[in-house]
Amino acid sequence: MATRKILITGGAGFIGSHVVRRMVNRYSDYHIYNLDNLTYAGNLENLRDVELKPNYSFIKEDIVDGEKMQSLFQKHNFDGVIHLAAESHVDRSISNPMDFIMTNIVGTVSLLNAAKANWKNFDGKLFYHVSTDEVYGSLGEEGFFTEETKYDPHSPYSASKASSDHLVRAYHDTYGLPIKISNCSNNYGANHFPEKLIPLAIHNIKNSKPIPVYGMGENVRDWLYVEDHASAIDLIFHKGKVGDTYNIGGFNEWKNIDLIHLLCKIMDQKLRRAEGTSAKLITYVKDRAGHDLRYAIDATKLNKELGWKPSLQFEEGLEKTVDWYLSNEEWLNHVTSGNYKNYYTEQYEKR
Ligand code: NAD
Ligand code: TYD
Repeated sequence: MATRKILITGGAGFIGSHVVRRMVNRYSDYHIYNLDNLTYAGNLENLRDVELKPNYSFIKEDIVDGEKMQSLFQKHNFDGVIHLAAESHVDRSISNPMDFIMTNIVGTVSLLNAAKANWKNFDGKLFYHVSTDEVYGSLGEEGFFTEETKYDPHSPYSASKASSDHLVRAYHDTYGLPIKISNCSNNYGANHFPEKLIPLAIHNIKNSKPIPVYGMGENVRDWLYVEDHASAIDLIFHKGKVGDTYNIGGFNEWKNIDLIHLLCKIMDQKLRRAEGTSAKLITYVKDRAGHDLRYAIDATKLNKELGWKPSLQFEEGLEKTVDWYLSNEEWLNHVTSGNYKNYYTEQYEKR
């Protein structure tokens, strides 16, 4: 059987590295091309265990470079794309929206154009776009985001992702490009860059530094273990309906402050500190501008149609995550040296 060539973009990032690892290890008849331009969030240390596998290649390129994308598609004739490359952090999008417009919107269109121009026949081809539940906006105390919820993004990040989702659908409706989209809730797990709440809090607790909680800590997020997201992507890529959208989430809502208290308890145990030590680090800081109150995903369609469900309970996943960070000190030291310090000062010093 001929090898299937799959292009995964953003494979050196948090979620992308888990998707790459899963696809390389499970599908020896696929060749996985990981395309990533290694921004601050991209890290080849995330992929040490797969980099020598014969069915894996790394390509360092910027998805915004349309000509380059065209020539790569011409050269490799990819059969499928799993598109994860993006600028992904809301706070950075508030400080610097243009990077988000370029990568998330222009970069997505440059990939769509390369697929459209080079896939002479769309048979057996697939462009799978990985997106977020933040495109749906913010919920009040009740209700869930379903696949029918109208888009209502608020941050530059979510607006750029919403825009890319619309463009992917437009290429399907206008040119017949075979596409699938999934919108997932907040992920957590190994290799998460410590600008996001959970790894940032783990890093700060480890170093006995303040844990910055925005506003009153009342905002609610719906958390999913990253490997469960990767398993859903694998399933949708192979079994989902072309042209369809799938919401991914584990019905696992947590108020930020409750989550932080749980994390503090786990960290006290793991670091053998007296109960209550880490919680003393909680520091309420100025709220994020335009902070969405609540996200909650209804993943019924994915469960009913494709039989997917998450494998881990939150407490178990959080403990595994803490264990990973505590036993990967070198990784954490590398990503928090250099520019991270400037970022941290800019975001938190005057907050
Ligand atoms: P991340 O920031 O950890 O990784 C993004 C990766 O994309 C990095 O490796 C980076 O180097 C690469 N990249 C950025 N700009 C690029 C460019 N111009 N060209 C090539 N590569 C580029 O992000 P993540 O958290 O792993 O998110 C991956 C995808 O999943 C994103 O599309 C994001 O919107 C989506 N998503 C994330 C979450 C979450 O909780 N993190 C939830 C739902 C959906
Ligand atoms: P984050 O991990 O940035 O993900 P997102 O904004 O995409 O949901 O933030 C998760 C929640 O935690 C969000 O409500 C903002 C809040 N938060 C803090 O309270 N303090 C922090 O230092 C960070 C980074 C986030």
